[in-house]
Amino acid sequence: VNDCRSDPRFAGKFDKASGFITKSLLCVPMEYRGDLVGVVEVLNKRSGGYTQEHIGLLSSLASLASVAITNAKIISEQKNFFSHIMELLVAVIETSRPNMTEHPVRAAKLACAIGRAMGVDEYEYRMLYYAGILHDVGYVAFKNQRVLAEMGAMSVSEEMHPLLSVKMLEGTKMVEGALPYIRHHHERYDGTGYPSKLKGDAIPLGARILGLVESLEELRMLGVSAPDLERRALQEAEAGKGTRFDPKVVEAFVAVLADQGGTW
Ligand SMILES: [Fe+2]
Ligand SMILES: [Fe+2]
Repeated sequence: VNDCRSDPRFAGKFDKASGFITKSLLCVPMEYRGDLVGVVEVLNKRSGGYTQEHIGLLSSLASLASVAITNAKIISEQKNFFSHIMELLVAVIETSRPNMTEHPVRAAKLACAIGRAMGVDEYEYRMLYYAGILHDVGYVAFKNQRVLAEMGAMSVSEEMHPLLSVKMLEGTKMVEGALPYIRHHHERYDGTGYPSKLKGDAIPLGARILGLVESLEELRMLGVSAPDLERRALQEAEAGKGTRFDPKVVEAFVAVLADQGGTW
């Protein structure tokens, strides 16, 4: 429209309200697969009027923008879906065994705090969080014959839960880096743990951290709380320093515990 004022579609009230004077206007729809995503509008061409060529140019810009906007929408919907699925999984894990309420989130937070104190990078930090939340998801399979059969497990024992957790999560790109932490979260620093009897630094750092967290969480799951929690947790960590637990992880935990006022 090269003379807005003489066009019946022109809504002059916006000019009145804003003080802006619209002389000419070019407006094209932003469409994605037949759906209207938005509109693009340009105003007041400096010289001459808008032509068919300008419509073509603006339309192609609009179509590029509509693809970008739609992609951003899809990504944000997927993020929303992912975080809801994580919440659902937490609820399922919590109900898989007695006393597990709040264990996944608490374990994730403590593991991340220790990880941060030990200087892990952003990726490891994120994987520690996923591992903390998901490390015991294998317990869910204990009650599901179909899942057990699919995994080739005829009967179940406590010691199978890390491997079952890994089996259930395998193929999920987003948590791939957390799988070694999950697989080895019951290894012991002196090589007497399970499932692989890994020893010392052969155990991934995330799994060494989660291993200590798992033992400390046992205290909480047994009902130990403040004011006994700090003393009992320190006792537990010190007692296993160098045997069950990596001494460096124990030291980081001691610092985190002091920092958090004796609790987690
Ligand atoms: Fe576990
Ligand atoms: Fe656990």
